[in-house]
Amino acid sequence: MRTLLYPGSFDPITLGHLDIIQRGAKLCDRLVVAVLHNPGKKGTIEPQKRAELIRKACRGIGNVVVTAEEGLTIECAARWEADAILRGIRPLGDFENEFTMAQLNRRLGHVETLMMTTSQGVGDISSSAVREIASFGGDIAPFVPEGMAQDILDAMKK
Ligand code: PNS
Repeated sequence: MRTLLYPGSFDPITLGHLDIIQRGAKLCDRLVVAVLHNPGKKGTIEPQKRAELIRKACRGIGNVVVTAEEGLTIECAARWEADAILRGIRPLGDFENEFTMAQLNRRLGHVETLMMTTSQGVGDISSSAVREIASFGGDIAPFVPEGMAQDILDAMKK
C-alpha cells in the first residue's frame, strides 16, 4: 500500500487516534492524516491548530503527513493520490456509520475504505469525552498523547 488517507475531525487527537496512526503507518509508504469538517459536529479547536497538535503527537513517525483541508474526503483522497481511506472502529457503535460512509465514498470516489479495530485499552476513548472532561476541569491526560494534555487544554481555550 503506497498512500493511506486517515480522515477525521481530531477535535482533539486522542490516544485512540494515535493508536490507528501508529499501526496504519506501518501498513503503507505514506499515511496522510487529514483534519476535515464533519457537518454533524460543531467543532471546538480551530482546524489548523488540530493539525498542529497531531503533528506534535506524531513526531518520530517518519511517514506521516498531517493536513487540514476543506471539502469532501474523496476530494482529499484524490489530491493526495491515496490508494485507500483508513478509519478506526471502536467496539461499541461505530460500525453502522462507518459502513455507510465507506459505501458512499466508494460510490462517489471509487475509493476503498479499510477499517482497523482499535487496540485494547483505547476503544472507549473519544474526542467528545475528552472535551467534556476538560469542560468540567477533569484530567484529560489518560486519554490524549503523552505530554500533550496542556497543549490541548490551551488549544480549546482559544
Ligand atoms: O472523526 P469523525 O468526525 O468521525 O470524521 C468524520 C469525517 C470528517 C471523516 C467525515 O465527516 C467526512 O468525511 N467529512 C468530509 C465531508 C465528506 O466527505 N462527507 C461525506 C462522507 S460520506
